[in-house]
Amino acid sequence: MVQPGKFITFEGIDGAGKSSHLEWLAQFLRGKGLAIVVTREPGGTVLGERLRELLLDQRQTMHAETETLLMFAARREHLDKVIFPALARGDWVVSDRYMDASFAYQGAGRGVSLQKLVLLEDWVQGGVAPDLTLYFDLPAEMGKARVQSIKTYDRFERESDEFFDRVRQGYLQRARQFSQRIRVIDASFPIEQVRQNLMELIEIFCRQQSGQ
Ligand code: TYD
Repeated sequence: MVQPGKFITFEGIDGAGKSSHLEWLAQFLRGKGLAIVVTREPGGTVLGERLRELLLDQRQTMHAETETLLMFAARREHLDKVIFPALARGDWVVSDRYMDASFAYQGAGRGVSLQKLVLLEDWVQGGVAPDLTLYFDLPAEMGKARVQSIKTYDRFERESDEFFDRVRQGYLQRARQFSQRIRVIDASFPIEQVRQNLMELIEIFCRQQSGQ
């Protein structure tokens, strides 16, 4: 029988550097002989990527709840087309963002009620939570400074430091609440040190999975 795969997610405010660490982790895990599916949210499917274009388009305005519903619509498709099939095959899925982003950005950042988010979470995910979440923590001003090297901001990146501070507090609150699943990595350190911390955490996780 195929062992169900593992599900790892990366989270952090914009500018936390998670995307480059995610590429590195995928290679690292492939080096261990694991089949890895790299994906992202919003996105990961044809429909999800189209929703992403709308969600990130800085010319687009939308109600916070519309934004939330679109995030979860993209997630439903992502689970159906990518995440569930990959886990059933025994592959490992590494996703650049997942549900914690909705609680941090739409919940803490935009003020969408926790009750509504939990309702959507139950509906869309049916209890599927990641096995491990790596949260790259960074003060809002540092994230902003890193994003500033990008030429055009998307709809989220142009938000204020206050917004990103709320998002960060939202992530930290989730990390306290789900301390078994969410591991906090200090992303303000130089990249080599962040990578070293990431490697240590992932080695522990892999050892736990193989029952050592
Ligand atoms: P991001 O992952 O930062 O990609 P890039 O590195 O290409 O900019 O962009 C996705 C944006 O979507 C990010 O600003 C956070 C936002 N987002 C939410 O607000 N809620 C969600 O549930 C998800 C998955 C993402």
